[in-house]
Amino acid sequence: MNEKQRKEANEIKEYSADVKSESNNNLNRLKNMESDELIGKYFQSTYQPPNLKKAKKRLKKDVDIHYDFSIPEEMKEIGKDKKFLIRTYGCQMNEHDTEVMAGLLTDMGYQITEDTKEADVVLLNTCAIRENAENKVFGEIGHLKPLKLENPDMIIGVCGCMSQEESVVNRILQKHPFIDMIFGTHNIHRLPSLLKEAMFSKAMVVEVWSKEGDIIENLPKVRKGNIKAWVNIMYGCDKFCTYCIVPYTRGKERSRLPEDIIQEVRHLAAQGYQEVTLLGQNVNAYGKDLEFDYGLGDLMDEIRKIDIPRVRFTTSHPRDFDDRLIEVLAQGGNLVDHIHLPVQSGSSEVLRIMARRYTRESYLELVRKIREVMPNATLTTDIIVGFPNETDEQFEETMTLMREVGFESAYTFIYSPREGTPAARWEDNIPMEVKKERLQRLNKLVNEQSKQAMEKYEGTIVNVLVEGESKKDPEVLSGYTERNKLVNFRAPKSFIGKIVPVKITNAKTWSLDGELVEETSEVL
Ligand code: SAH
Ligand code: SF4
Ligand code: F3S
Repeated sequence: MNEKQRKEANEIKEYSADVKSESNNNLNRLKNMESDELIGKYFQSTYQPPNLKKAKKRLKKDVDIHYDFSIPEEMKEIGKDKKFLIRTYGCQMNEHDTEVMAGLLTDMGYQITEDTKEADVVLLNTCAIRENAENKVFGEIGHLKPLKLENPDMIIGVCGCMSQEESVVNRILQKHPFIDMIFGTHNIHRLPSLLKEAMFSKAMVVEVWSKEGDIIENLPKVRKGNIKAWVNIMYGCDKFCTYCIVPYTRGKERSRLPEDIIQEVRHLAAQGYQEVTLLGQNVNAYGKDLEFDYGLGDLMDEIRKIDIPRVRFTTSHPRDFDDRLIEVLAQGGNLVDHIHLPVQSGSSEVLRIMARRYTRESYLELVRKIREVMPNATLTTDIIVGFPNETDEQFEETMTLMREVGFESAYTFIYSPREGTPAARWEDNIPMEVKKERLQRLNKLVNEQSKQAMEKYEGTIVNVLVEGESKKDPEVLSGYTERNKLVNFRAPKSFIGKIVPVKITNAKTWSLDGELVEETSEVL
């Protein structure tokens, strides 16, 4: 046995011991429970606790790709004259999973509704990224209880990233026994069978896989709208940034085959979609797990030849952003020049303990390379403040980096410890008032930079993909430019779904006001 094998064997031994002690803990917890009914539910269900340690394991086993999914015969009509509602929390990955679940439910005969009171099936597609994301979901679970009491036939399911956490599953089992089913991110294709089980048994149905499943290619989808579409290019994440729960809730990196992605994008183009966003937690790692030499640059090079006006991708990880991709992006065309490139911190020391695997300097070098070939590219980012041990000086480095790169917007977050991640074992030692003060200062700078970027557009003409009526005024239409700037302007509704030239008359902090231009005008 060599050193590596010995280490692996030890890990497996430790893991088995953990599982045993987890099971004992669960049994003890159950013995202490007061509600007999709940214990009944617990044992009747096919409950296998999710396990974050197990989710961390990255085994060599190849992921199989399946093309033969179908809804079980007996479930095809089950939703006739019934309605469903899915509430989605979190990122675009979850939004897209919701489109798949909506597709499955529609194929079972269900119709969509926006009203919980008339829904026969309510699913909460949850996010675990920060504590406040989880709190929102528990708040919604509380709101659903009276509805369930009024209508006991209503099926309530919790799915998405929170379901992958044992603590969440246990809390639902103990405190919210009226929930009918819990399933995770790796088995959404099992929804028809789980729904059937939930309908016909009194038990809470819990099916969460701690290890990722295979790739199921032909799942039905009901996309939100017919203008912009999301396309998964890969699943999972292997980066294990020390603060992040995603590698545990989404499993190991698994790339779809290029031909399957290209076929999906071609199909969307043929259906008249104007924009696709290629999705993954770390899209720059696309292809690393394929058996042939192929990466995101190669994929983008194929996709730019498809007749679809706009192609985006998210989210990029700076570490894997390679020269081949930059070379392809430089060719422009339908590849938009907006790159979302999360930096997280401007301090190399903080980046090191976050395990981001790049430094301030190498990030700046990447920005330089991108700007060299795409001088007008818009860069946006994600930033975490108040990571354990972050000093005032280190936070100042984030402020200076923000200016140096000239980010045009940023999603900013207060660090939130996530159980099971390495950072959660370190003392969360930055006081909340300091975290809030840092966030406020950072947001002020983000707003200033966003406003400055917007002001540059005054008097110019931009191409806007019109998405619909503005939220504030139905007389006004709104849409986005290639560089993702929100534009509001007056025009007939017949322009929805089209790309039109708009002259910018006024810049605000987060949006632009403009006027529709005659088609003959030159577009900048
Ligand atoms: N895969 C993407 C990000 C996914 S999560 C990437 O690597 O960029 C979206 C953002 O949430 C992250 O970029 C990070 O800024 C933030 N985030 C993740 N975990 C967090 C935590 N524990 N506390 C606060 N913010 C967090
Ligand atoms: Fe989380 Fe890092 Fe993976 Fe992004 S790259 S999902 S921040 S672990
Ligand atoms: Fe949240 Fe899961 Fe996305 S934790 S951010 S929904 S991958």
